[in-house]
Amino acid sequence: MEQYLQLPIFKLISEVADEQGRECYVIGGFVRDIFLHRPSKDIDIVVVGSGIELAGQVAARLGKKASLSVFKNFGTAQIKYKDLEIEFVGARKESYLRNSRKPIVEDGTLEDDQNRRDFTINALALCLNKERYGELVDPFNGMNDLENFVLRTPRDPDITFSDDPLRMMRGIRFSAQLRFFLETETFDAIVRNRERISIISKERIADELNKIMLSAKPSVGFILLEKTGLLELIFPELLALKGAETKDGVGHKDNFYHTLAVLDGICANTDNLWLRWSALLHDIGKPRTKRFDPRLGWTFHNHNFIGEKMIPEIFRKLKLPQNEKMKYVQKMVTLHMRPIVLSEDEVTDSAVRRLLFDAGDDIEDLMTLCEADITSKNPDKVRRYKANFQLVRQKLKELEEKDRLRNFQPPVDGKEIMEIFDLPACATVGEIKTRIKDAILDGIIPNEYEAAKKYMYTIAEELGVGKPR
Ligand code: CTP
Repeated sequence: MEQYLQLPIFKLISEVADEQGRECYVIGGFVRDIFLHRPSKDIDIVVVGSGIELAGQVAARLGKKASLSVFKNFGTAQIKYKDLEIEFVGARKESYLRNSRKPIVEDGTLEDDQNRRDFTINALALCLNKERYGELVDPFNGMNDLENFVLRTPRDPDITFSDDPLRMMRGIRFSAQLRFFLETETFDAIVRNRERISIISKERIADELNKIMLSAKPSVGFILLEKTGLLELIFPELLALKGAETKDGVGHKDNFYHTLAVLDGICANTDNLWLRWSALLHDIGKPRTKRFDPRLGWTFHNHNFIGEKMIPEIFRKLKLPQNEKMKYVQKMVTLHMRPIVLSEDEVTDSAVRRLLFDAGDDIEDLMTLCEADITSKNPDKVRRYKANFQLVRQKLKELEEKDRLRNFQPPVDGKEIMEIFDLPACATVGEIKTRIKDAILDGIIPNEYEAAKKYMYTIAEELGVGKPR
């Protein structure tokens, strides 16, 4: 294993640990990721004895290029050096109280420390002392689990998860991120301990959800969240999409699985976390708008607008940002049907101009979302949609070049209208503005100042607005 510890920093830690006569190991995610060939910059060091003293000496040897932070209360220290973050901690034994994630900590052996960790693959340790440099210490057969893609807890999973319920989310996140499988006992323990998630802060849950969202196939995580019963507790609005009803022999698709298909689909085309969230939420308004009409079958009228309105509350509850990222998701959800509706009809210039006007700079993202939304199993239908989409894209390009509508500002603004006609701010000014905008979007006049001004006089006359100065 020695070949994995070639970074000079490990040699230095090794020297200092030997000088201090302390046993010292690199442990946790860094070791796991070595074997999974996932490069990582976060290094965890466990010292039998004081991690802070070892860190102090290592930082002193590294000199000015390293910065040391000591957290006395936690018995840990961190060194930042180049692009590395190295955490030092004394080996510990932990016991937990039922209502808290904060453990009572005692000094312990390496094995105590490995035992308190979440999964066997995260409990692997490589010794850094010279005599045993690179020796793997693996009391729970973590290597075997790593080779078999298995997530298993070192201890009784009921204890591991009850101690720190965040680990249930971590287990599901690792399943999605690393494509590992939760061993049956471990899975069953999540089901049994799911209610304990209530002691975990929303921020930490959101962090794990975002990591699931950023994995290559997030559906793996959401299906496990649903199967374990955690989804109901942390994100009931998403669970509400599940299920397909049939009435008078007419069914509708299961919107939970459809949503996950859209999400997985979009992940192949974008790493933008918020576009991925838009895919997850695009149909979130469907359960609230679902109706059965004997003539039309199942309808979800205005589900995009209802979805848009649900998002601030969902973001607030999940502690996701309440800023322009949320506004972007709202915009995507409101507009998500526009390109497809447009491509179902004849693709007119006017409709494409309006789409460009409403989507602005986010038009490409909207098209990506809309394309992912085509999950039909009917190949003819898919082919037709895709062909029409090509047409929409082509028209978008042409009109964009010709009309410069992406971030449309009306060539004649309200202030000018008020000045010319000596009007106060009133509904008439708004109407003149809207009609100029509509004329441009409908292609009646070009998107140019002179044409818009001329058109403004025509409208004003029609409306009987007072004489221009
Ligand atoms: N750990 C744990 N229980 C937790 C969090 C962390 O047992 N709730 C342990 C695991 O051994 C983990 C190590 O602490 O490997 C480091 O934690 P962290 O850096 O949060 O996770 P990584 O496993 O490194 O993975 P990632 O960086 O992807 O979160």
